[in-house]
Amino acid sequence: MTRVFSGIKPTGHLTLGNYLGAVRQWAEVAQHRTDALFCVVDMHALTVDHDPARVRRLSRQAATLLLASGLDPELCTVFVQSQVDEHARLSYVLECVATDGEARRMIQYKEKAARERERGGSVRLSLLTYPVLMAADILAYGTDEVPVGDDQTQHVELARDLAVRFNQRYGQAFVVPRATHPKVGARVMNLQEPTSKMGKTDDAGPGIVYLLDEPDVVRKKIMRAVTDSGREVVYDRVARPGLANLLDILAACEGGNPEDLSGVYESYGALKKDTAEAVVELLRPVQQRHKELCADPAYVEEVLRLGAAKAREMARPRVDAAYRAIGLLAG
Ligand code: AMP
Ligand code: TRP
Repeated sequence: MTRVFSGIKPTGHLTLGNYLGAVRQWAEVAQHRTDALFCVVDMHALTVDHDPARVRRLSRQAATLLLASGLDPELCTVFVQSQVDEHARLSYVLECVATDGEARRMIQYKEKAARERERGGSVRLSLLTYPVLMAADILAYGTDEVPVGDDQTQHVELARDLAVRFNQRYGQAFVVPRATHPKVGARVMNLQEPTSKMGKTDDAGPGIVYLLDEPDVVRKKIMRAVTDSGREVVYDRVARPGLANLLDILAACEGGNPEDLSGVYESYGALKKDTAEAVVELLRPVQQRHKELCADPAYVEEVLRLGAAKAREMARPRVDAAYRAIGLLAG
């Protein structure tokens, strides 16, 4: 059976980008077709300035939202990274296989480090080593497929390189994974800045639709999305990024193709209206289920406890084997 692993960082509230780029595929496809694990990767939330209480809160919220989005603990394993020691154990071994040049070439590292330095701050070492921990997340489980948004392609490539290198040097220990992306929605852009990704941030985010935004807030954000001064509604990601983003979102909600929507709409206003309603309807059941789950936090805790126990059991033998192969006196 195909083994699937993916993760989400509790660095902010989950967005429509997270949902269309990743979580929806996990719930609708991956968990039914494969042996799948989904992880709230809380250790990855410590790579930038953070508030401990907020990370704990967001981890619980992310786990609750994953369940609200349809992940079913009967079908897949849902857990929190820091509750399974094997991730950190394996990460160190992989740091002995990766090079510092490789880590420094990661686009996300370069961008985030530059931003941090511009603000006069210092860069945590964990920001540099983060993709190695991500490789450990993936490789510990013998993962075949990693369903993610486009922005994670380079990190999954690194995991592949490390698996191949380890296997060549120290003997076959890891499956070589590959990234998979949704056909539409793999890169949802910020509604106010359609050339940047819709990412989680700390601000209210007029360009970011959060999964828990009220319907009227969703409508307002989409109706105010930045488009361009053209008039025809055609799909062109390069020349008309704002418009293309709305077409992508609508197509992703409806399960269609954005190119097929070219020429269908007479005005930007009509397109925005339909997109807003499609998103509101998409989020409605998730929000409803989230409300129910929030009333039963003990259930969520129990799912995570059982998930961590299962994950630990799955990861332990492979991580032990890697320890022995690289020369450690592991049990
Ligand atoms: P993160 O929020 O960075 O932990 O991302 C969790 C998952 O959501 C990853 O698979 C990302 O690739 C995906 N993702 C995040 N933002 C977007 C976006 N704007 N469009 C599509 N996928 C996204
Ligand atoms: N780096 C991913 C992100 O920012 C999150 C992540 C961590 C992940 N470990 C993973 C995704 C393992 C897939 C598999 O979105």
